[in-house]
Amino acid sequence: MTEFVDTVAADRAVKEAHRSMWGMGDYPAVASEVIGDLGPILAEACSISTGQRVLDVAAGSGNAALAAAARGARVVAGDLTPELFEAGRRSASDRGLEIEWREADAEAMPFADGEFDAVISCVGVMFAPHHQVAADELIRVARPGGAIGLIDWTPSGFIGRMFAVMKPYAAPPPPGAQPPPLWGDRAHIRELFGDRVVDLRCEVRQLDVDAFDRPAAFRDYFKAKYGPTIAVYQRIAAEPEKVKELDAALEDLATEFFDGTRMHWEYLLVTGRRAG
Ligand SMILES: C[S@@+](CC[C@H](N)C(=O)[O-])C[C@H]1O[C@@H](n2cnc3c(N)ncnc32)[C@H](O)[C@@H]1O
Repeated sequence: MTEFVDTVAADRAVKEAHRSMWGMGDYPAVASEVIGDLGPILAEACSISTGQRVLDVAAGSGNAALAAAARGARVVAGDLTPELFEAGRRSASDRGLEIEWREADAEAMPFADGEFDAVISCVGVMFAPHHQVAADELIRVARPGGAIGLIDWTPSGFIGRMFAVMKPYAAPPPPGAQPPPLWGDRAHIRELFGDRVVDLRCEVRQLDVDAFDRPAAFRDYFKAKYGPTIAVYQRIAAEPEKVKELDAALEDLATEFFDGTRMHWEYLLVTGRRAG
């Protein structure tokens, strides 16, 4: 019993830390100014259509939820960090769209079995620490035959590499946590879903990012607005040598992925249907 209580308390502490990290900076700006194309790409890939009941998991400020609602679906946007909903509500209201916003941990979602015609997540569920638990939840809340669609950063693409560069400076991951970019690996997805998802397709694609005019602009923007990057810099703030090192490493990495005009960020587009 004590062990059970401790596990629950430890998980709550991890989720609270994650929530506070994603609430730092200005994630809604990143979603709209940098990766705003991904939500509509995911909604289209899953053929979201009028009248469908759709869940966007780890929706943030609603990048994919807004795109699904714009296609006529009845959308629930769930996320661990409800602080991000305010920006989402503003965007929905500006566009005349209705979305239900629900605080929801992807690893224990407050939804019934088979409730949704489509369950989607745009660079979202990949950040829940226990991959199999989260994958089981995606499948559980989709109806048999319902769509499951994901966009995940790949390990060798820019964001996957950025997390690898930041790792030596970051807090150690909680016990049992798996690295987010693993969700960008086909074999990992197949293992997580097994035969419970049929018609599974995994396609590697590139997002062209034109928000930055030079590599250092990317680094400075992420230092100011992207929670995981801000958290790492906060941790080393008292060690100027490390700050300098990480500044240089992030700029070097961004240079590798910058063609003089734009950056290219690789992702895995995953689509399938719940078996049954
Ligand atoms: C990179 S953002 C993506 C947000 C949005 N899907 C988009 O496309 O802009 C990652 C999101 O995952 C959420 N998140 C992280 N861990 C989560 C968890 N365990 N359950 C639900 N959401 C989680 C964060 O709060 C954050 O909103």
